[in-house]
Amino acid sequence: MDYHDLLARLGEGSAHPGGFTATMQLLDKLSLPAQSKVLEVGCGTGRTACYLARNGYRVTAVDLNRQMLEKAVRRARRERLDIRFIQADVKSLPFPDHYFDVIFVESVTIFTHWRSALAEYRRVLKPGGLFIDREMILSGRKTEMMSRRLKQFYGIKTLATMTTWKRRLKQSGFTSVLIKEKSRSMEMWGTDHDPHREMDVTLFENEQVQRMSRTNDRLLLRYRKRLGYAVFEARTPMDNVRKQNV
Ligand SMILES: C[S@@+](CC[C@H](N)C(=O)[O-])C[C@H]1O[C@@H](n2cnc3c(N)ncnc32)[C@H](O)[C@@H]1O
Repeated sequence: MDYHDLLARLGEGSAHPGGFTATMQLLDKLSLPAQSKVLEVGCGTGRTACYLARNGYRVTAVDLNRQMLEKAVRRARRERLDIRFIQADVKSLPFPDHYFDVIFVESVTIFTHWRSALAEYRRVLKPGGLFIDREMILSGRKTEMMSRRLKQFYGIKTLATMTTWKRRLKQSGFTSVLIKEKSRSMEMWGTDHDPHREMDVTLFENEQVQRMSRTNDRLLLRYRKRLGYAVFEARTPMDNVRKQNV
């Protein structure tokens, strides 16, 4: 069982800094145009995708983890929401070029190869499309040991500073790169009640899970002050179509 399998079995609905409250506050602030076609990448158990659909957006959501998606589908069904869920890898999104108005991501891109992820986000966004991504960032000194441990346990593939992420976004062809929120320390997920959470309670008796939980606590305690998070906002250029087709 890896970290994402554990999150899936726990049925965690908002596995990102600030939790669901931060997501709702961010979306309120963004006030996306009505009827926008939104892609949520790495939707987990679908809590944010459902919130977006409840607010009138046309939502497609992808995730790599099958169990996450099964829970997301059941959540949407219970809420009677029409959302298209697809199992897909960020590195090759199963959508045509320039298809979405908005891409919304929370705590996913750090688990991927950033170059291909950012290239795919850009490809499937319309010209002038909006990209929002909340990710863990490096806010202090990074050591080999730290990178190795975080990679090994969480599967993090890239741990970079806010400045490096901004540069990466620009290098990948995004414009108007902004920081919407930032924190120099790692915030926990929050403890708000998720009425549709499907938690596998037998997990707590499982020794592997107990070991993983202890490792998680140890890593957070040790590295919390060197990890923060930021919410990045960026746009695809208005001539996105022309440049990509040459
Ligand atoms: C930390 S969880 C965050 C889930 C959700 N965004 C949330 O905030 O609750 C990371 C999610 O990214 C998904 N993921 C990781 N790598 C992925 C990839 N290459 N393509 C698609 N999804 C991926 C995992 O399966 C997991 O659901």
